[in-house]
Amino acid sequence: MVVTPWEVSGRIDYEKLSREFGTEDLTPELLVRLQKHAGTLHTQLRRRIFFSHRDLSWVLDEYDKGRKFALYTGRGPSGPVHIGHVVPWIFTKHLQDVFQANLYFQMTDDEKFLIHQDKSLEEPYRWAYENSLDIIAVGFDPKRTVIISDIKNIQHIYELAVRVAKHMTFSTVRAVFGFQDSSNIGIIFFPAIQCVPAFLPSAISGKSVPCLIPAAIDQDPYWRIARDVAPKLGFPKPAQIHSKFLPGLGKGGKMSASMPETAVFTTDSPEVAERKIMNAFTGGRATTEEQRRLGANPDICSVYFYEYYLFMDDDKEIEELRRNCLSGNILCGECKQILAERVRRYLKEHQLKREKAKDHIQEFLAESKGLNLPD
Ligand code: TYM
Repeated sequence: MVVTPWEVSGRIDYEKLSREFGTEDLTPELLVRLQKHAGTLHTQLRRRIFFSHRDLSWVLDEYDKGRKFALYTGRGPSGPVHIGHVVPWIFTKHLQDVFQANLYFQMTDDEKFLIHQDKSLEEPYRWAYENSLDIIAVGFDPKRTVIISDIKNIQHIYELAVRVAKHMTFSTVRAVFGFQDSSNIGIIFFPAIQCVPAFLPSAISGKSVPCLIPAAIDQDPYWRIARDVAPKLGFPKPAQIHSKFLPGLGKGGKMSASMPETAVFTTDSPEVAERKIMNAFTGGRATTEEQRRLGANPDICSVYFYEYYLFMDDDKEIEELRRNCLSGNILCGECKQILAERVRRYLKEHQLKREKAKDHIQEFLAESKGLNLPD
């Protein structure tokens, strides 16, 4: 398996990954603490979609003592948003609601310009606008959320970035990110930029503000560096909570915009989404007769994964689906139809909210509101 911020491939063994990255398991005790605050255990926690962390217990300890934390997450605007990206954002919104936390949302237009040698700057700019609509459609609180473009809002970032960069050596970032002699020097500096928002809440307020970063585990390499640098600059080490990847609709692998036929984009029409789902890889048998007799395998089935990650919230219902699949009571065609209907409903709702977001985007952008969020 390969898991880096720019490549995720192979069969992902999350336990092994967590050991290699040096992260900690989300223990039952931590889940109980989160449940106490929220009044309920979020689906993504119940199903261990968020599965690992760093310093989450410390963040909760501090919160219990009356010290609030800030949230930080982000998006690299290189194309349309797919429903895999939305997984950590839904959970981030949940955390914002429960803890009344400010959210710093970084839009790494610079990263996407630098990493793709053939991209013009106009492309990430255009996608940053489009993707911001998706982010707003997830339902973040405009009073407590700011979307920061690295390029357009560089005046808020650069001073901290150079302070961070001074404590990062080329040999570290080369080892962590796999840079080569041929890598452009923009992307070599970029890791300092992605670390900055973790320190912004403290730098802006002049107080030490804990920061919690919800994201899929591919972004973890940045946080390892940020945690090394933090004490050198007098900031608390940023904490993380890591999710797994929503798989693509093909055989194995995470959902990725570079394989559009196996990714459902938030802007897909219902017909296009349905076609992709009807062509999805499942754990079904070669013939109907065999499937009725032997049952199918939900543990390799992308349709089942979609229900599990996003669309079938009710635990009894998903258990029943699993049983029906294993026993051959349900066929893949029926299962795909059920998912397609749910996805169609979700897309309709999301796209309405996305349209509405066009009138409210200024309430979220750093260029119009600055970085000051309430206490
Ligand atoms: P990006 O745009 O690749 O991904 C945005 C967010 O989506 C997560 N993600 C997924 N989650 C579940 N299933 C998937 N299939 C899937 N694919 C991607 C990513 O982990 C991420 O949380 N460099 C970053 C942008 C960034 C950022 C951050 C992300 C800047 N600061 C802080 C997270 C936290 C990027 O290109 O993300």
